[in-house]
Amino acid sequence: MPITHRLTLTQYLIQERRRYPNSKGEFNALILDVALACKAIARTVAFGELAGVLGNHSADDGDKTINVQGEVQKKLDVMSNNYFIHLNEWGGHLAGMASEEEELPYQIPAQYPRGKYLLVFDPLDGSSNIDVNVSIGSIFSILRAPEDAIASGRDLVEADFFQPGVKQVAAGYALYGPTTMLILTLGNGVSGFTLDPTVGEFMQTHPSIKIPEDTNEFAINASNSRFWEYPIKRYVDECLAGKTGARGRDFNMRWIASMVAEAHRIMMRGGVFLYPRDNKDPNMAGRLRLLYEANPMGFLIEQAGGRASTGSEPILNVQPTGLHQRIGFVFGSKNEVERIERYHAEPVPKKDDINPLFAERSLFRD
Ligand code: AHG
Ligand code: MN
Ligand code: MN
Repeated sequence: MPITHRLTLTQYLIQERRRYPNSKGEFNALILDVALACKAIARTVAFGELAGVLGNHSADDGDKTINVQGEVQKKLDVMSNNYFIHLNEWGGHLAGMASEEEELPYQIPAQYPRGKYLLVFDPLDGSSNIDVNVSIGSIFSILRAPEDAIASGRDLVEADFFQPGVKQVAAGYALYGPTTMLILTLGNGVSGFTLDPTVGEFMQTHPSIKIPEDTNEFAINASNSRFWEYPIKRYVDECLAGKTGARGRDFNMRWIASMVAEAHRIMMRGGVFLYPRDNKDPNMAGRLRLLYEANPMGFLIEQAGGRASTGSEPILNVQPTGLHQRIGFVFGSKNEVERIERYHAEPVPKKDDINPLFAERSLFRD
């Protein structure tokens, strides 16, 4: 299809901005800076070993580096973080940033103006897939900075970022797969763009993404099954029982270990993703991080007609208490997520009352 038949990301943003006659275009400029960072990461990822970008990052002394999560940083984690920071710090639209790879809020350097937005991001999601050439992505969330920070231009503190997901102004992810895509919400539905490598532009290819309400596909890391709480065990057991169980139909299971790739499959054809709270590590309330993984993804999913939850309550209602706080996260096709929430609301049966069918047949029993 000729390039003139599709909207570019820039044209889409201008079109959306016309709905807000008072807007000054700052927000659009910010989204375009984020998109530029994603394009730079996409090119870097695409060269892989040819550019020597695979493997672990090492400090000057040659030692591996560890981020605030206690995870070994990949070279591409560090490079992607640098692209996000340096392509966004100069524009004058941001009061500050927070990143998976930065322990504390990133302050806009003194030589640049400060603006009214906060940018929060996971620069590269799916680190375990980098070296094996499986899809990875970037995730971002845009919030408004507190009024006093905008007015005074003061340095940010962690608490400035502790805003529930409903406060997000925009969110998106870039997927570095067979094609590079940018999936974006400005709070008015979800629009998908594919990077046209010949002109270096994101072109609108998926104008209004809608997640089917029902699905036969679920995604969970089943190696954690012995740590799951009862409602999750019950849900997965019922999916596995298929036609012969309570659900009366067969299900398919998927696990890529890149949430962005998983979410994209769900955006395109439905499904449910679970990384629930479990009792593997009492110090961690889940695997995924609230501010830069669950909240932006939750906003996108809900804007596409799906549902995003902790298992018990809407993820977007959770009041954050830490920059790198983890949380149980369940999202995808609405009816399936609502079912999982119902299972959490029901009382947990006493051990003796658990349906013997599960006890005998479950692949995942205690
Ligand atoms: P990150 O690479 O940013 O640390 O996040 C990886 C996340 C997420 O993308 C994925 O769903 C999950 O970790 C995979 O976890 P397991 O290794 O337990 O499968
Ligand atoms: Mn991640
Ligand atoms: Mn990451």
